Amino acid sequence: MVVIHLSAECYPLAKVGGLGDVVGALPKYQQELGVTAIVVTPYYDRKFARDNEFEVVYESEVRMGDKNLPFQVLKETTDKLGFHLHMIRIPGLLDRSEIYSYPDETEQFIAFQLAFLEWLLKFKDNPDIVHCHDHHTALVPYLMSHGFKYRFLSTIPAILTIHNGQYQGWFGWDKFHYLPETDPWTRGVLDWGGAINPLAAAVKSCWKYTTVSPSYLEELKESSKGLETLFVQEEKKGSGILNGIDTDVWNPVTDPLLTLNYSLDNVTKGKQENKRALCKEFGFTLSKPLIAFIGRLVDEKGADLLPAAIEQILSVAKSKASILVLGSGNPAIEDQLAQLKETYKKDYNVYIGYDEALSHRIYAGADFLLMPSRVEPCGLNQLYAMKYGTIPIVRSTGGLKDSVIDAAEPEGYGICFPELDVDSIVASVTRAVDLYANTSNVRLLRKRMMLLDFSWNRSANQYIDLYNSLK
Ligand code: ADP
Ligand code: GLC
Repeated sequence: MVVIHLSAECYPLAKVGGLGDVVGALPKYQQELGVTAIVVTPYYDRKFARDNEFEVVYESEVRMGDKNLPFQVLKETTDKLGFHLHMIRIPGLLDRSEIYSYPDETEQFIAFQLAFLEWLLKFKDNPDIVHCHDHHTALVPYLMSHGFKYRFLSTIPAILTIHNGQYQGWFGWDKFHYLPETDPWTRGVLDWGGAINPLAAAVKSCWKYTTVSPSYLEELKESSKGLETLFVQEEKKGSGILNGIDTDVWNPVTDPLLTLNYSLDNVTKGKQENKRALCKEFGFTLSKPLIAFIGRLVDEKGADLLPAAIEQILSVAKSKASILVLGSGNPAIEDQLAQLKETYKKDYNVYIGYDEALSHRIYAGADFLLMPSRVEPCGLNQLYAMKYGTIPIVRSTGGLKDSVIDAAEPEGYGICFPELDVDSIVASVTRAVDLYANTSNVRLLRKRMMLLDFSWNRSANQYIDLYNSLK
């Protein structure tokens, strides 16, 4: 079976968040199950692309509006990632260093998708599945079924995985002329609320769509930035598959970025040594429970509530805990978090920015990982934390609800809270501080978490069953 994954991100070439992690891992696990997995991303002028060898496997041009855009398909030559990475390069459009946020992002992703379809038309044998990820690739299912030029491709099952339904990629009808010719009657498929909405178009025209957790599938029907009725209408096509983690990259036994590697057998010492190093780096006392937050500083992650919650925790809990934040995003939240450093020097620190290596050290060295998410389609952070024996404190939503069981339950291991407000965050952290005082309980919870299997071995097969159901 040949599966093509189309995505804006793929670790280690390009990662902003969990999408990159998933597309850098799932295909590898699929290959281990006998699938030929091809990943296609835009070309980015980043370290991985500069340091590795690529061969040009296809060259042509694509018509977009009144322009012909020459493009190349580059293939990574060694296949060392465990899947076949391809990148589409379009000079001036897809050869930049950042992944998102250019003013012509709409044009960039339209051109990416059109170039991919041009290339796909030239395949000797059609792939068995085209698997699109998020809105950046969501015009593909629509064009495969309704584009005049691409009709031959309509027999290939096109799947969409929704990693985040908050972002839909919509753009105005004034850019409709960028798209190739389609049946006029199908234009309604593109439209949602008077604009072209790629995510909505894909949900309407794909063969099947998935969300990255079962709970998120249900939540989209209640709240999805205007697409609620669509998700209710199309619910028969949807299924929820919880993400996994890549244990070649995220594993305390082998992780080269840790101070000391550890397994369940020496977890107490392992975490202690990693915590010691982290405390030294950030100026904390070793004896207090260390609570960390890692993530994008946006409302979706509940980051807007962090400054007030941290102030309360550090004053109300009378400095019974240390708090470390790693993140970047909304400049106002960044500023507030940075300012708190002046007041709470001993028990609080923050690194504003993106640092992959530091994130590994934190998953290993922290005692608790806080995720007060407003929306969390899956969340990988809690899965990494649990693999490293770090107790998650989560708001029960989406994938957090599907992966973390409260320690008050039989066989539970985390701290879960249903409401999202500052008081609930503070109360949950206070619970964590109390729990930390009971060392044998902490040991038990660490053991329960580290024995869980959240690797892709668990979920990769569910995608293959889905593909097989479409044959
Ligand atoms: P999302 O994709 O919504 O941001 P996920 O939990 O799925 O959330 O994935 C986030 C990924 O990005 C994890 O691998 C996490 O460790 C990483 N990450 C987020 N912010 C940072 C940061 N500032 N530095 C390093 N890694 C980060
Ligand atoms: C999105 C979601 C996150 C999920 C990730 C990978 O970015 O916000 O919850 O884990 O995609 O699927």
